Amino acid sequence: MAQRMVEQLEAVKNMDQSRRELIANVSHDLRTPMAILHGYLETLTLKSNELDDAERDRYLTAALRNSERLSHLVAELFELAKLEAPEARPVCETFHPAELAQDIVQKFQIKADQQHVSLDLDAEKNLPFVYADIGLIARTLENLISNALSFTPAGGHIYLKMMTENDSVQIQVKDTGCGIPAADLPHIFERFYRGNRQQDSNHGGLGLAIAKRILDLHGSTIHVDSTPGNGAAFTFFLPKTQPLSRR
Ligand SMILES: Nc1ncnc2c1ncn2[C@@H]1O[C@H](COP(=O)(O)OP(=O)(O)OP(=O)(O)O)[C@@H](O)[C@H]1O
Ligand SMILES: [Mg+2]
Repeated sequence: MAQRMVEQLEAVKNMDQSRRELIANVSHDLRTPMAILHGYLETLTLKSNELDDAERDRYLTAALRNSERLSHLVAELFELAKLEAPEARPVCETFHPAELAQDIVQKFQIKADQQHVSLDLDAEKNLPFVYADIGLIARTLENLISNALSFTPAGGHIYLKMMTENDSVQIQVKDTGCGIPAADLPHIFERFYRGNRQQDSNHGGLGLAIAKRILDLHGSTIHVDSTPGNGAAFTFFLPKTQPLSRR
């Protein structure tokens, strides 16, 4: 009985600690985009009489862009918090990975065409079924393909490759884009990591941290290979149909 009470007390303390950490992280993560948005709105208000129509439009557009970015971050932060909760579990089912990939490729095809980037599914024939959370795996693939589209210039290629590897299916999103500097590679799965080359850009979000956590929950991992100037390849494995060990 005494032992159980000590354990429960410990569990409550841990929950409290992670809640405090979450609040600290969220406040920190939201501060920059909030400050930028505030800056634009303040300028619009204080300098209202001095701004011409073109300037006003420019500030309003920038404020809108930052508020969209902020909503996107909040949505991702809550998604990650949910996935990081100790009780988070994938809801696994048996599905065919190539069918999911086909749907996702189709979803991004228009954007790829607009950017003049080719997007191709290269799935081995007779690929086995996998056992995983289809919604979470879709989320992972969407993030990887959307990243590939952000970092691959016109004329480039993106491949979604799937092949059998022993008891697993290997899934890879490979692009011919700008690639990732070696110094950034160990950090890109960290929340909000932004390589030096992008200090001024809006990039550096939570997509890869979410992808990593999703694979974690499946008892799997995700890794990246990249040479600057020669594109990037993100790879993960899902087990062939069979119940997964739950975490
Ligand atoms: N295919 C890629 N090619 C080059 N760099 C990449 C690629 N994928 C990710 N990165 C780098 O890793 C960083 C983190 O990616 P991540 O998906 O976590 O965030 P994001 O795409 O910037 O924002 P979000 O996914 O939250 O909308 C990117 O900002 C970029 O610097
Ligand atoms: Mg992303």
